[in-house]
Amino acid sequence: MTEQRTDPVVVVAGALVDEGRLLAARRSTPAELAGRWELPGGKREPGESSEEALVRELREELGVETEIGERVPGEWVLKPGYVLWVWAVRLRSGRPAPQQEHDELRWLTRDELDSVDWLDQDRPAVAEAAARLLPA
Ligand code: C5P
Repeated sequence: MTEQRTDPVVVVAGALVDEGRLLAARRSTPAELAGRWELPGGKREPGESSEEALVRELREELGVETEIGERVPGEWVLKPGYVLWVWAVRLRSGRPAPQQEHDELRWLTRDELDSVDWLDQDRPAVAEAAARLLPA
C-alpha cells in the first residue's frame, strides 16, 4: 500500500506596519468568515513565488503596492491541508482601502490588537508578527 501525501496549500498573508501600527482587515465574505478579522492575503497560485503571490493579493485586496520584507517565522494551520505563512510588509504606494473581500480596515497599535475579533487561526500569527514588528 502506498501512502499518498500532498503538500499543503500555502496561504500567504501580510503584516503591514505603518507608524507602529498593524493593519487588520475585516472579511465580508464568505458568510462563515464575515465579520472576523485577518491579516490580508490569500492562496499562492501555481508558478508564483510566495512574495509574488503576496504582492498580487495585497494589490487585489487593498489596492496598494507593497514591498515584502522578512518572513515572520512560523507556520499556522488554517484548516486541514492549508497553512498560513506571514511576511512583514511595507507600503510603497497607495492607501489601503477594502476592495471585494473586506469591508473595513483598521490600523492597530499593540495595545489595540485585542479590540477586533480575529479569525481563530490568525491569532497566533498576529501575536508573533506584533511581537516582532510593533514597538513595545
Ligand atoms: O483569500 P483566500 O480565499 O484566497 O484565502 C484562502 C483561505 O485562507 C480562506 O479559507 C481564508 O479564509 C484563509 N485565510 C485565513 N487567514 C488569512 C488569510 C486567508 O484563514 N489571514
